[in-house]
Amino acid sequence: MKEKTIHLPGLAATLTLGRKLGQLARPGDVITLAGDLGAGKTTLTQAVGEGLGVPGHLYITSPTFSLLHEYPGRLPLYHMDLYRLEGEGDLENLGFEEYIYGDGLTVIEWPDRLGRLLPEDRLEVRLEFAGPEARTAAFTACGAAWQARLAKLDQP
Ligand SMILES: Nc1ncnc2c1ncn2[C@@H]1O[C@H](COP(=O)(O)OP(=O)(O)OP(=O)(O)O)[C@@H](O)[C@H]1O
Ligand SMILES: [Mg+2]
Repeated sequence: MKEKTIHLPGLAATLTLGRKLGQLARPGDVITLAGDLGAGKTTLTQAVGEGLGVPGHLYITSPTFSLLHEYPGRLPLYHMDLYRLEGEGDLENLGFEEYIYGDGLTVIEWPDRLGRLLPEDRLEVRLEFAGPEARTAAFTACGAAWQARLAKLDQP
């Protein structure tokens, strides 16, 4: 399976999905989160952190001014928000490739900013508004790493 869509009727469904992603994550995984402002990318990342076992007192917020926040969990979580990325120089300063090809889970908001630096193996998630509290999550597994796991995303 390469593609999948999950309807999220409300916040609780988004949180359940995020926890599942966190539980399924393996070292070196990359998840890209696309979607308009307020679609729920950071909210989903908070639940991914929960699923990874990031301690609850480390509240995950959008790393708007630093591009990257790192959290300890079963695997390290590297949360990037590239909305304000100024170009590839920023990514070099960040050590971008050491994170995405490292042993943690990298979650990237606004991945379109990466251009050709987008890693080949990744799970793409696109969140769309489907109502005030409803969203649609569209998944594309790029590369082998996530393909077998797509079927598990909406299983308990
Ligand atoms: N089903 C849902 N899934 C996710 N968020 C929801 C849902 N319903 C309501 N919300 C609310 O929508 C908002 C989503 O904000 P969030 O910061 O996660 O979006 P974002 O995609 O990261 O935006 P930005 O592009 O500004 O970083 C939150 O206030 C959240 O509580
Ligand atoms: Mg955000």
